[in-house]
Amino acid sequence: MRIAVVGSGYVGLVTGTCFADLGHEVALVDNDEKKLAALRQGEVPIHEKFLPELLARHRGNRIKFSGDLQAATRASEAIFIAVGTPPTESGDADMSYVESVAREISGAVDGYKVVVEKSTVPVYTNNWIRTIILRNGADPELFDIASNPEFLREGTAVTDFLYPDRIVIGVESERAAEIMRRVYDPLTSGWYYGRGDAIPRPDRAQTPPRLITTSAQSAEIIKHASNAFLAMKISFINAVASICEATGANVQQVCEGIGADSRIGPRFLNPGIGYGGSCFPKDLLAFRAVAKEGGYDFRLLEEVIRINEEQRHRFLKKVRSVLWTLRGKRLGVLGLAFKGGTDDIRESPALLLVEELVREGCRICAYDPAAMERAKEVLPTNVEYAADAYSAAKGADAVLILTEWEEFAALDLERLRSVVRYPIVIDGRNLYDPAAMTAHGFSYYSVGRPPAVCEENGRAKKQERA
Ligand code: UGA
Repeated sequence: MRIAVVGSGYVGLVTGTCFADLGHEVALVDNDEKKLAALRQGEVPIHEKFLPELLARHRGNRIKFSGDLQAATRASEAIFIAVGTPPTESGDADMSYVESVAREISGAVDGYKVVVEKSTVPVYTNNWIRTIILRNGADPELFDIASNPEFLREGTAVTDFLYPDRIVIGVESERAAEIMRRVYDPLTSGWYYGRGDAIPRPDRAQTPPRLITTSAQSAEIIKHASNAFLAMKISFINAVASICEATGANVQQVCEGIGADSRIGPRFLNPGIGYGGSCFPKDLLAFRAVAKEGGYDFRLLEEVIRINEEQRHRFLKKVRSVLWTLRGKRLGVLGLAFKGGTDDIRESPALLLVEELVREGCRICAYDPAAMERAKEVLPTNVEYAADAYSAAKGADAVLILTEWEEFAALDLERLRSVVRYPIVIDGRNLYDPAAMTAHGFSYYSVGRPPAVCEENGRAKKQERA
């Protein structure tokens, strides 16, 4: 099929590239000429597993980069809108980019086409896109609007796209449904999974994926409600972690106990310093705004947001209670990205904590496997950066783990112990077994688990019960 994807940001780039890998002819459209030139030259602007391989496989061949939205629309059966919907001051999504794309598409509707919302958008956006396209003169018989939300996680977006839990298509006509089914047929028919050069299957993947057909409004709500539910799961376990800290219980054991109930499930129950990123914080605000507009005061979401913010302050309090005073303390910070496996620092709780620690007078030496360049642009200039975790920890009064990178869960603890000033680790992501840390002479503080403290001479004083 011939498909246009509008917007070469994170969602558009992954979506367009994966469509090409499914055998479609893709025009990836953007109005930023510099971005297009970089993509044509082979640059890969985001840190995303398998994306460089797939782009190299299809660039200039099944995927072309274009600045001409009207030409791409004329040449395509389906046009996916994947432009940004940043939050406005009041929390609702700014839809002006979507509107201007709809306006431009209108002039090029010369045969039947489906215009698909891929960006995360408020419910009824499909109606607005339809209205704008009609207002600008397109024939109502020649197009339909569909909603096809994405459930991609940064870092694993390509795998999430090709091995999805489900594909949701929100459509209002059989004609549109037929086109959407054809777009995803390489996945739903299982064809892709039999290919020798398919991207490797992740552990939990069930193939072929289920295709869920709904109304456009339902599809829009599915996206917001999914993200809100996941954020709620994280805030819930973070609240439980606080109760564990107050009562001496161990949140890891609690998670094992509750996650074993198949109705709850063990995933997305990792407590920490709170969720961040470009999706959850923004989408929760937008969903709350959508609810408010519909006359429903969704206060549960406010509480989810409040618990998330509090989680950072609780961590800061923990650092203070371990180190007593903060002014002049040297801290080795491991992690700046909002989660492991990405260079994205948007709404990163790690970054917000570093800023606060600097304000309190700490001297920070940070290391992140991918996000340091981006962090340098926004963090205070007196933050130092190291080439690896051990250099960041050198001479540190304490080491702070702020992002769940796999490499931080596999540190050489002997080596770490030999470089720090004091063997103290404060872990905001619960990457270590407390008993293993004291066995290596560390005092170890994590989230929702009893502290595992070594005496100053390095002997374990109080070890956590298994
Ligand atoms: C999230 C959703 O998981 C995707 O399904 C969705 O498509 C995407 O938003 C989006 O709307 O575009 P993403 O923002 O990439 O994906 O990141 P997640 O892996 O969901 O993590 C979000 C945050 O929650 C991170 O800061 C992470 O550290 C935190 N988290 C996650 C926890 O604190 N605990 C957990 O158990 C899981």
